[in-house]
Amino acid sequence: MRKKIIIGNWKMNKTSSETKEFLSEVLPLIKKNSNVVFCVPYTSLNVASILLKDTGLNLGAQNMSWEESGAYTGEISASMLKEFDVNHVLLGHSERRQYFGETDATVNTKIKTSLQHNIVPVVCVGESLQDRKAGLAIDVVTNQLRHAFEGVDADKTKDIIVAYEPIWAIGTGVSASASDAQEMLQSVRNAISMIYNLNVADNMQLLYGGSANAANAAELLSQTDIDGLLVGGASLKSQDFAKMIEVIV
Ligand code: PGA
Repeated sequence: MRKKIIIGNWKMNKTSSETKEFLSEVLPLIKKNSNVVFCVPYTSLNVASILLKDTGLNLGAQNMSWEESGAYTGEISASMLKEFDVNHVLLGHSERRQYFGETDATVNTKIKTSLQHNIVPVVCVGESLQDRKAGLAIDVVTNQLRHAFEGVDADKTKDIIVAYEPIWAIGTGVSASASDAQEMLQSVRNAISMIYNLNVADNMQLLYGGSANAANAAELLSQTDIDGLLVGGASLKSQDFAKMIEVIV
């Protein structure tokens, strides 16, 4: 039985003092030990790690270097994240791919590094509107997955999460319908099964992301192949985010 999980992706929002304010507001609304991850900006990790301590809730980062240390100006390593008890990291988010030159190859090396450090990679994949209109959604996503998992052993996959986020649904207020999301997530599971095997595919947590909110969470989460949500905008609103978490507890 796969557990349901809700991951908030704050993107480039909230200073560390705003983080303190927000978490103090939202934490009393959330049951301890819920399967929840807060992916905050790097500068908020310190305060968030203090506030999340002993709550059973998880702290995540939004990116990470594949290197351990060295002359990589502006980068953050896995050990730097571990110091703040980070146990999840978003990798290959479409905004990183679109604006910051993230490629399937860098996502692949980052997955390997995160696994070495016991940080759960949340591997983001998804097609553009153009791809979807051309009927290429499944091909594009399957291709991203094949590259992402190159050289990643099957026995490591229990610690990997995949988030399917159609680019056209991110931040647009237009979520994929629950049935379209289910259809894509089923294809993602089939692709994982082809890359590895049925057992790996059955056990992997697959998330949907893209304008998920308090109003559509329950329907999305009721789909067979949707094991959770990656939430951007709605994760910045305490009441909405808490409501979404209520669906999985
Ligand atoms: P959104 O973002 O919920 O604001 O669409 C989701 C994401 O980019 O992870």
